[in-house]
Amino acid sequence: MRAIDLRSDTFTLPSREMLETILDSPLGDDVEKEDETVNKLQEMAASKFGAEEALLVPSGTQGNLVSMLVHCRRGDEIILESDAHMYYYEIGGMSALVGAIPRLIQGTRGVFTPEQVEEAIRPYDSLHYPPTRLVEIENTHNRAGGCCWSAKQVSAVSKVAKDHKLKVHMDGARIFNASIATGTDVKQYKRQVDSISFCLSKGLGCPIGSLLVGNKEFIDQARIYRKMVGGGMRQAGIIAAPGIYALKNMVSRLQEDHDNAKLLAKGLAAMDGIKVDMKSVQTNIVIADVSGTGKSSDEFVELCKKNGILIFSFGPQTVRFVTRYGIAKADIEELLARLERSLR
Ligand SMILES: Cc1ncc(COP(=O)(O)O)c(C=O)c1O
Repeated sequence: MRAIDLRSDTFTLPSREMLETILDSPLGDDVEKEDETVNKLQEMAASKFGAEEALLVPSGTQGNLVSMLVHCRRGDEIILESDAHMYYYEIGGMSALVGAIPRLIQGTRGVFTPEQVEEAIRPYDSLHYPPTRLVEIENTHNRAGGCCWSAKQVSAVSKVAKDHKLKVHMDGARIFNASIATGTDVKQYKRQVDSISFCLSKGLGCPIGSLLVGNKEFIDQARIYRKMVGGGMRQAGIIAAPGIYALKNMVSRLQEDHDNAKLLAKGLAAMDGIKVDMKSVQTNIVIADVSGTGKSSDEFVELCKKNGILIFSFGPQTVRFVTRYGIAKADIEELLARLERSLR
């Protein structure tokens, strides 16, 4: 039986056409800024976001780490959502490597309010509290099921941050999903924040790579920290060439993934014992509560596996499906039919 793999958009495989772009791309030593293909990708990314500059990094995790290293000093506090990837899934790099402390606030579908930020900011000139330095926004929010921040929501939180002279970083690993779902140009998001990291290796279908965008001062410092943490790469044009292809060809097709996620969510919600919060199905992620089937999420994942459906457990009662390039509408229909049969 052919496996239908919805574990993550990180499992997306590059197309032949994408890989072929590598062969004709000029390469050089990127630590010396001599890789023309990397330079071209960085210029394209900066221009797409209306930012002064951009920087290629190997992963989203390193993009976030480098951003924190630029924005924060040891002992600083970072305000972020309680399920944020930077807190939940990045092995504590925030504290272990940056020396910063997380100040968690609980959002609604990944989004928190300016009032919550205001309340979380520490008093200045105190002998007791760590200084608040950075506010972090995750867009789309992974653990919230790919939910989006609107430009208005970002702007309201940014205003409070600016009033308190705090920096704002956006973990935009899936920012193009947010941009398409909310109809917001990524330039509009960039205008509200100091830095954004976004991934080439998720919905955009590249094998490797993420980019940071920000002003020249931020990128100059990010380049130094990238080297410090081992992210200075040499002929990185082999990573950048697929990135250029992706920015040209893979962004608008994300709508197809969103449509497939909605189709999947509706089909799942119609099955006995499965619940889906339809308001959370905004992009390419569907989180389903399977407790009504009488199975734990691990048992449900196992049942799916036996039926050629690959997904991840997301909590004791929840599982996560992610639609992506390589998964067609027919695959979703086939998945729903297999699941329906196996739950009977
Ligand atoms: C929201 C978010 N930020 C950052 C990352 C990290 O990206 P990477 O796996 O490239 O380190 C991920 C990965 O899934 C993510 O979902």
